Amino acid sequence: MVSLKDDSKMKVVTSPHWKRTLYFLLFALSFTIFIAILYEEELTHIIKPSPWHEFEEFEFENFNQQEEQEEQEEDILVQAVEKDVVIKPFAVGETEKECDVFEGRWEYDEAARALYGEAECPYIQPKVMCQANGRRDKQYLHWRWKPHWCSLPSFNATFMLEMLRNKRVMFVGDHIHRGQFVSMICLLQSAIPQSFQSFETVKPKSIFRASNYNMTIEFYYSPFLLESNREHRSQRFLREKIIRTGSIDKHARHWRGVDILLLNTYTWWLQPRGKIKILKGSFEGDKRKNKIKEMKTEDAYKLAMNELVKWVEENFDPHKTRVFFTSISPSHELSEEWGGEAKGNCYNETTPILDNPTYWGVGSRKGFMRVIQQVLSKSKVPIEVLNVTQLSEYRKDGHLSIYKKHERELAPRDLANPRSYADCHNWCLPGVQDTWNELLYSKLFFP
Ligand SMILES: *[C@@H]1O[C@H](CO)[C@@H](O)[C@H](O)[C@H]1NC(C)=O
Ligand SMILES: *[C@@H]1O[C@H](CO)[C@@H](O)[C@H](O)[C@H]1NC(C)=O
Ligand SMILES: *[C@@H]1O[C@H](CO)[C@@H](O)[C@H](O)[C@H]1NC(C)=O
Ligand SMILES: *[C@@H]1O[C@H](CO)[C@@H](O)[C@H](O)[C@H]1NC(C)=O
Repeated sequence: MVSLKDDSKMKVVTSPHWKRTLYFLLFALSFTIFIAILYEEELTHIIKPSPWHEFEEFEFENFNQQEEQEEQEEDILVQAVEKDVVIKPFAVGETEKECDVFEGRWEYDEAARALYGEAECPYIQPKVMCQANGRRDKQYLHWRWKPHWCSLPSFNATFMLEMLRNKRVMFVGDHIHRGQFVSMICLLQSAIPQSFQSFETVKPKSIFRASNYNMTIEFYYSPFLLESNREHRSQRFLREKIIRTGSIDKHARHWRGVDILLLNTYTWWLQPRGKIKILKGSFEGDKRKNKIKEMKTEDAYKLAMNELVKWVEENFDPHKTRVFFTSISPSHELSEEWGGEAKGNCYNETTPILDNPTYWGVGSRKGFMRVIQQVLSKSKVPIEVLNVTQLSEYRKDGHLSIYKKHERELAPRDLANPRSYADCHNWCLPGVQDTWNELLYSKLFFP
C-alpha cells in the first residue's frame, strides 16, 4: 500500500478579508435596514456565505466608494432578505426572534407526552420496542422539550401532511437516523387512514408511502455517506474500516430529486486509535492504482463533509428544497460522567440530567461538532443543523438499555450483569427522537 501525498487539506472557501468586509458592511447597514423592517431573523442567513448569486457578483473591494454604492447595496440586501422570507420553502411563519430552539430544558408533562403509544405505531421494529421488551418505568415517555426563550409549535400531523402533499422526504445516514425516520412516520401515521399507508424495505432503502397525499418518507442507509469497505462482501472481514474519497455520488445519486433531505453521519467514524483509512481508487476492479492513507478521524470526517457540501451545492435548489443535518447523537456509556455509580452506564437510568445544563459526555467529540459547524456553515445551499446533541446529552434515561431483543441467546453470565449488554446508544420510541422531529417541524415551518 502506497502512501498518499497530503492533498487532503481543505480549500478555504471564504477569504477572511472578504468576510471582514462583509461584516463591516452589514454593521453599516444594520440600523437603516434591519431594525427598520424587523427582519433580524434573516441576518444570520446573510452573515453566512450567501446562497444568492447577487452577492457573489458583488464587488466588495471598492469600499471607498461606499456612499455611492450604499443605496444600491441596500436595495440588493433588502431584495435578498425579502426574497428569503418569501422563498424559504415550506415556511409558513417564524420562531420568536432570538430564540434558539435547541437551548432549553426538559419539562415533565404527563398529559401531553408521549405523542403516540408504542403499541399504536406499527413501524417500530419489535426488537426495539422498549415496553414490549420489558421496560416497566414510564417516566421517560413524558418529557417535553422547552426552549428557554420560546415554545415549540405544537406538532400537527395533518398540517404536516398537507404541506408534504406530492413531496418526497428522505432520511439518509446510519442506524440512529433510522430511528428518527421511524419516529417521523410514527408521528404522522395516525393521521393517515390505514389503507393509504404502505411500507417496504429494499436494502439499503425503506419507503413509507401515504398514497392519499402522494407523499413518501424514505430512509437510505449510508452510515458514512461515502462508500466504505463495509459494503463489499469480500472486504467485510477486514477489521479496519476504509472509506473511499471522491465516492459521494455512489450513494448520493439516489438522493437526487427529493424535496426535504435529512442527513447524519458520526458514530461509524469513531475509531479506537482515532485514525481511519482513506482510499483513493476503487474497491472493485483494478486495485493496482489504489492508494491508501491513514488519517486522523476528524480530518477524514472533514473530507467527507466537504464532499457532501459540494454535492448538495451542485444538486439542490434552495428555492425549492430544504436540507438538514442532524448533529451527534450522544451515547451514555459511563455513569461516572454524570455522577452516577462506578462502572455503570445507562442501565437502570430513569430520569434525565436536570441539574447540569452544560453536561456533555466524552462520546460526543467536540472536534467533530466543530467540523459540522464550520463546514456546513460555508455551504452555498443552506444545510441547516438540527443541533440535537446537547438536549439528548441530558437523556441518559432515553436509550434502549436492556429492553431490546438480542441477536444471540444471552448467557447466564450476561444475565447476571445486565449492564454488560445494555444498549446506551440507540433510543426508545416514543422518546427523545420524537423531539428531534418536533424540532425539525419547527425549523421547517417556522424557521
Ligand atoms: C391541524 O392542521 C389542520 C390542517 O392545517 C387544521 O385544520 C387543524 O385545525 C389543525 N389542528 C390543530 C389542533 O391545530
Ligand atoms: C406525486 O408526486 C410526485 C413528486 O413526488 C409528482 O411528480 C407527481 O406528479 C405526483 N402525482 C400526482 C398525481 O400529483
Ligand atoms: C437500580 O436503581 C435503583 C434505585 O434507583 C436501585 O435501588 C437498584 O439497586 C438499581 N439496580 C441495579 C441492578 O443497579
Ligand atoms: C450545537 O450546540 C452546542 C451547544 O448547545 C454548541 O456547542 C455547538 O457548537 C452546536 N453545534 C453546531 C454544529 O451548531
